[in-house]
This record gives sequence, C-alpha cells and structure tokens, in this order.
Amino acid sequence: MNSFNTEPRQVFSLDNLTVNFPTRKGSVPSPLQNMNLKIDAGRITTILGRSGCGKSTLLRTLGGFIQPEDTGGVLYKQRFMNGPTPEIVMIFQENNLFPWLTVEGNVKFGLRFRKDDTRDQVTAVKEILASVGLTDAAKQYPHELSGGMKQRTAIARALITRPKVLLLDEPFSALDISLKRHMHTLIRELQADTGTSMVMVTHDVEEAITVGDRVLVLGGNPADFLIDANTTASAMLDRYSYDYLELQKKVERVIY
Ligand SMILES: Nc1ncnc2c1ncn2[C@@H]1O[C@H](COP(=O)(O)OP(=O)(O)OP(=O)(O)O)[C@@H](O)[C@H]1O
Ligand SMILES: [Mg+2]
Repeated sequence: MNSFNTEPRQVFSLDNLTVNFPTRKGSVPSPLQNMNLKIDAGRITTILGRSGCGKSTLLRTLGGFIQPEDTGGVLYKQRFMNGPTPEIVMIFQENNLFPWLTVEGNVKFGLRFRKDDTRDQVTAVKEILASVGLTDAAKQYPHELSGGMKQRTAIARALITRPKVLLLDEPFSALDISLKRHMHTLIRELQADTGTSMVMVTHDVEEAITVGDRVLVLGGNPADFLIDANTTASAMLDRYSYDYLELQKKVERVIY
C-alpha cells in the first residue's frame, strides 16, 4: 500500500442510482434506474447518447443538484452526496449567465468566495478571458453576445475557480470548428496541469473521442451504458488513426 497516494482512484461511484422526478402527484421515473458505475479521478470521461436518454439528469445528479432515491446514490470521494459542494463546478447546458453583469463581471463572480488580492483577481480574469478569446468582449452584457461567446463566458467562469471536479454539459455546442478545437486543447491542457476530474456530456462523437480518456454511451430506457471504452493516445491525437476510426464506428453504430 502506497501511503503517499491517499487520493481515491474514483471521484464518483454510482451505487444503485435511481432518479425519479417529483410531480404534484408523486413522481415520474427518469431513465436512470438502478445504475452502477465508477468514474476515475484525474481523468476526462465523456458521455454520448441520444437526446432525452438522461445525460443532463446524470450530470446534475453528479453535481448534487438532484437528490436521487435513497435506495442508492452517488458516492463522491467514497461518501454519499447530499447536495452541491464548492469543489464540484458545473457548466449547465443553458449557460446561466447573469444578465445584469458584463462578461468580466460574470467571470469574476466565480471568484466571489476567494480572499485573493483584488489585483490578482483582475489579472486572473484578464488571463482567462484571453485564453477563451473574449478580451474584446469583457465589457459586454450577455444579451450582446453570440451563443458561442456566452458559452465561452460560462466556461471561463467555471475554469477560473480551478475546481477539483468539472462537469460540462454540451459546453462547446455553439462554437465553430476551429474555436471548438481550441477549447478542446485548452481543456486538455488544464486537465494535465491541474489533475481536475472532468465529466463532459456531448453530442459530438469527434469531441468525445479526442477530449475523453474514457468514452461512455448512454442509451435505452431504463438507461444503460451501451459502450464503455478507454481511448488511446493515437485515437485522441489523430482523427485518421485506426483506433479513432474503430471507436467512431463502434459509437456511431449504437447512436445512429
Ligand atoms: N424535471 C423533470 N421532470 C420530468 N421529466 C424530466 C425532467 N427533467 C428531464 N426530464 C425528462 O427526462 C428525460 C431525460 O432528460 P435529460 O435532460 O437528462 O436528457 P438528455 O440526455 O440530457 O437530452 P439532450 O441531449 O436533449 O440534452 C427526458 O425524457 C426529459 O423529458
Ligand atoms: Mg441534456
């Protein structure tokens, strides 16, 4: 036993996870029923699946925003979760920017609990805005931004906090292909620098394979993980490699 390595290997474990949605008359079942899965710490796990299969529900549950049935649940670092924690930051599918704050204000909001020097915060905001290509939009308000600019603002707001766990729900769906690839590199570099555990939902097969260390495909009702594959370095780095094309074929056969 290595006493220096006290970090658990798993960041999350789904332990007989069932989610039902509350209604006025009781509840309706979500696609997530009695699910089991271990998600490794310090890696990027990507989740693909048809619309409505339960991806966002799963991600929100990992973030502690949905309380599952008490027949099981989600273990975060070996303990059952019972609500959101500041260690876990989620980028929602709907951005959720504050309309009364500028781009800069929205990003700085991520640092509200920090006691850092104001000058350091200003520098941090500038740096992160530059890395997502929003320097010139710093003083603009959300209603003045394109969909892709809003997404990048939400990403900057999440990244600036340097969370232990980052949950991303279709974060790059509104970006053009070159910005998307730039963001993929940024996310991979951030992960390599900080060891952040990430779970990212996407509809983009290429994105799932080139960003993810592990690719999951969710499907069926009740839902199941139809594919659970580790990516290889050649699949991640080369979209024409044998490994990439094999995994793409396998995934597309299940999804389409
Ligand atoms: N609060 C809720 N109450 C009732 N049903 C819900 C609720 N939230 C989601 N659902 C239903 O649960 C199912 C899964 O929804 P979810 O948002 O997790 O899908 P998704 O896989 O993220 O889809 P998409 O790819 O379109 O974002 C859908 O059928 C949806 O209508
Ligand atoms: Mg969704």
